[in-house]
Amino acid sequence: MIDNFAGKTAVLTGAGSGFGLECARIGARLGMNLVLVDVQQDALDAAAAEMQAAGAQVLARKVDVSSTPQMEQLAVDVAQRFGAPHLVFNNAGVGAGGLVWENSVKDWEWVLGVNLMGVVHGVRLFTPMMLEAARKDPQWRGHIVNTASMAGLLAPPNMGIYNVSKHAVVSLSETLYQDLSLVTDQVGASVLCPYFVATGINESQRNRPDGLAGDQPTQSQLIGQAMINKAVSAGKVTAAEVAQKVFDAVAANQFYIYSHPKAIGAVQTRMEDILQARNPTDPFADKPALGAQLRAALRAD
Ligand SMILES: NC(=O)c1ccc[n+]([C@@H]2O[C@H](COP(=O)([O-])OP(=O)(O)OC[C@H]3O[C@@H](n4cnc5c(N)ncnc54)[C@H](O)[C@@H]3O)[C@@H](O)[C@H]2O)c1
Repeated sequence: MIDNFAGKTAVLTGAGSGFGLECARIGARLGMNLVLVDVQQDALDAAAAEMQAAGAQVLARKVDVSSTPQMEQLAVDVAQRFGAPHLVFNNAGVGAGGLVWENSVKDWEWVLGVNLMGVVHGVRLFTPMMLEAARKDPQWRGHIVNTASMAGLLAPPNMGIYNVSKHAVVSLSETLYQDLSLVTDQVGASVLCPYFVATGINESQRNRPDGLAGDQPTQSQLIGQAMINKAVSAGKVTAAEVAQKVFDAVAANQFYIYSHPKAIGAVQTRMEDILQARNPTDPFADKPALGAQLRAALRAD
């Protein structure tokens, strides 16, 4: 829980676009020092210039969050410039879809590298710095927010690789919450689980490293891309609204952060499936035409 953000330091990954950029804007308005992290140089430069113009102290670093040495160097740079960060937003992420057996090893390495290992690095590198600051000063408060997704609480079809990465982030975050509460009352944790929101997430391939380049997309991957484009662009909740929810949750020490609270009904159905040992419910039960369309498209030659 952080009640006064002014003068505090935030580390934001994926700060060049979407939720990361909107959180940086709020942080700048609140008078925070900002560590902006992104792998896309032009987006990072634009974000850094905007936040500096808004009066924030900015440390901008081009870092691939999946890279152990780059993240370790980032932690050193943050410690040197601002000391222990008060707010860490492990948010950078990428999307990929298609039938789960069609993803290549490079697909798995890329998505798990960014979505899961990026969060792992943020947690393993910044939490000890925060705990040390908390030990030295009983007034010190810190908070870690990891970005998962509703896909971390559900198993929507034709996007298994993303679901796996986000379930892992939910598990990591819930465990982080419990582990922190064993050792301190001064550092908290939250997990952000958005539903579809218009950001750059449907164009994640733009930042895929050459070394993990994708193969020619399969039919199911093309269908998955078209579905995600449609779902994201139809989203009515804005990234700025979600970013405000993140700050409200940090101030209130609220663990689960939802962009679309109504979408939680599907989680209840999944939990009932598990509790009753019932086979997984058809995710298209309330939209049968969409399910029929997807099945027909995937079964077409
Ligand atoms: N937009 C949605 O509908 C939605 C829904 C659920 C979860 N999410 C999650 O929200 C998070 C933020 O995504 P967004 O929607 O703002 O998308 P976005 O593409 O607008 O922003 C993501 C940012 O992360 C950066 N990034 C990508 N790979 C990186 C890497 N290896 N290292 C560092 N930075 C990297 C990108 O350059 C980009 O600036 C992601 O974890 C995403 O999975 C988004």
